[in-house]
Amino acid sequence: MIKKLFPAVRGYELHSLGASFMIILEGVLEIMIPFFMTKLINDGIDVPNPSMRVILTYGSLMLLMAVFALITGALCARFAAVAGTGFAANLRNMLFRKVQDFSFANVDKFSSASIVTRLTTDVTNIQNLFTMLIRMTVRNFIIMITAFCFAVAVNPKLSLVFAVTIPLLAGIMLFIMIMAHPFFEKMLTRLDLMNAKVQENLIAMRVVKAFVKGEDEKVSFNDSALALKKAQLAAERIVIWNNPVSQLIFYAAMIAVCYFGGRLIIDGNMKIGDLSGFLAYIGQILSSVMMLSMLFVSFIITRASQKRIAEILDEKIDISDDDADASLEVPDGSVEFSDVNFSYAKNPENLTLTGVNFSVRSGETIGIIGGTGSAKTTLVQLIPRLYEVLSGSVSVGGHDVREYKLHTLRDKVAMVLQTNLLFSGTIRENLKWGNEDATDAEIEAACRAACAHDFIMSFPHGYDTDLGQGGVNVSGGQKQRLCIARALLKNPKVVILDDSTSACDTATDASIRKALKTELAGTTTFIIAQRIASVMDADRVMVLDDGKLVAFDTPERLLETNDIYKEVYESQMKGAEA
Ligand SMILES: Nc1ncnc2c1ncn2[C@@H]1O[C@H](COP(=O)(O)OP(=O)(O)OP(=O)(O)O)[C@@H](O)[C@H]1O
Ligand SMILES: [Mg+2]
Repeated sequence: MIKKLFPAVRGYELHSLGASFMIILEGVLEIMIPFFMTKLINDGIDVPNPSMRVILTYGSLMLLMAVFALITGALCARFAAVAGTGFAANLRNMLFRKVQDFSFANVDKFSSASIVTRLTTDVTNIQNLFTMLIRMTVRNFIIMITAFCFAVAVNPKLSLVFAVTIPLLAGIMLFIMIMAHPFFEKMLTRLDLMNAKVQENLIAMRVVKAFVKGEDEKVSFNDSALALKKAQLAAERIVIWNNPVSQLIFYAAMIAVCYFGGRLIIDGNMKIGDLSGFLAYIGQILSSVMMLSMLFVSFIITRASQKRIAEILDEKIDISDDDADASLEVPDGSVEFSDVNFSYAKNPENLTLTGVNFSVRSGETIGIIGGTGSAKTTLVQLIPRLYEVLSGSVSVGGHDVREYKLHTLRDKVAMVLQTNLLFSGTIRENLKWGNEDATDAEIEAACRAACAHDFIMSFPHGYDTDLGQGGVNVSGGQKQRLCIARALLKNPKVVILDDSTSACDTATDASIRKALKTELAGTTTFIIAQRIASVMDADRVMVLDDGKLVAFDTPERLLETNDIYKEVYESQMKGAEA
């Protein structure tokens, strides 16, 4: 898992190494302090004629070590901060890029809230671990081993105290961590749920207000915040034992050493300076063991985060164009489906589209009707390869869609999605999403074809009107027309309108269709509609029923041969006449 995260260190290798080097230096300097202290006491104080000269010499050496330790420690902190923040920025970029390459199917798999938590909380957890790793690992190993050697050199018998304390301390800390780990995992899942709650609420704020569901939402948010708190508390409840237990072992070791060391001194077998040096080594050794176990603990705690990040990095992008021919252009707007089966779950037992066969000539206008859930959207999403077929093939311009670079294909197959979004920015900026190089004249032509020009000009700032986030300050029908204009600006060979005029009145709907027919004479057009009037002047109409293409013919002939079409026609036309 960790190996996957290595590339995120790129650009910060020197800072990472620098931090480790500085902290090792700091460790060595720190070990020297008790060494000089032992000398100071043994040779300067604990002698028949205490010597101020010896005390001052060793005292200044200790001070010098402390000052250098301070400088190297500060340098390490600085390097580690640069390396840690850089590492996190790289990792976030790696994740974001990967998410941008996700296909619709990949996005369906992760909830967007969970992707947000992974990019924020999980990365922060790993950043902390990374900073700890470069600051603590080597330093503490070195301090532990060197201080241990010094301690043994001072008094081998007294060092036996480490044989008990080190394994005890490490064992207890590991036990605590292993117990706490599942709760940390649970905590992250709950955090996901809470983020999902917030995200959903913010996106649907208007619906919440319209249904006066604010109070219910507050209650349900409170529930998820409490659930998160519970998981957090359960984890913390175990982890808090860390400190008291390690302090207890630490002081017990001190008392044991004072007791046995004191007896050695009374018997004249040990010098006072050795004992005080020894006590300092105990502090250093046990605190490095604690830090190493803490490091291990953080490693375990962040395992959940590591796993969640690796899941995104490892996610197999199910639509890739790596083998596609970059020079292949879409020659025309013909579309052909042969024996297409499709399943969202990639399960042949659970097909959403079954055995679809049809062929559409370039420039034809095709209407698609069918009840809700009959897989109209699913069918057209296969044309720009937003999803991959399970079996069979989809061709555009005589080539299988898999032969094109995705960019080439989607540039020529413009789709106005059923649920569409505008971005914050001006109308002009939004339209240019379709085609960055579009001139003002082209923008106006597209807007005329989409019947958007007139209402845009009725705004005081015209094309420079600012759209709020998600296009909140235009009406539903206006938004749809802007989305159509945005798609037309691509100069596509195939245009797909998925229920894209449902919010426009019938007159506007009719004039959009008329304009499309003249403006996009050579462009193949697919129009999904609930209104029969929207498909009546199409060249041919597809009738979908439960994922199957049950009829595909001219509207006139369908009226005679197809019951579904006839039924819809009669119910809607009768309604209109009445
Ligand atoms: N992303 C998805 N993941 C899994 N199943 C899906 C997904 N999108 C749609 N479906 C399922 O596929 C079936 C066809 O859905 P589709 O959206 O194609 O219907 P539709 O004909 O466009 O309906 P409508 O007229 O309501 O837009 C439905 O049963 C739906 O539940
Ligand atoms: Mg649909």
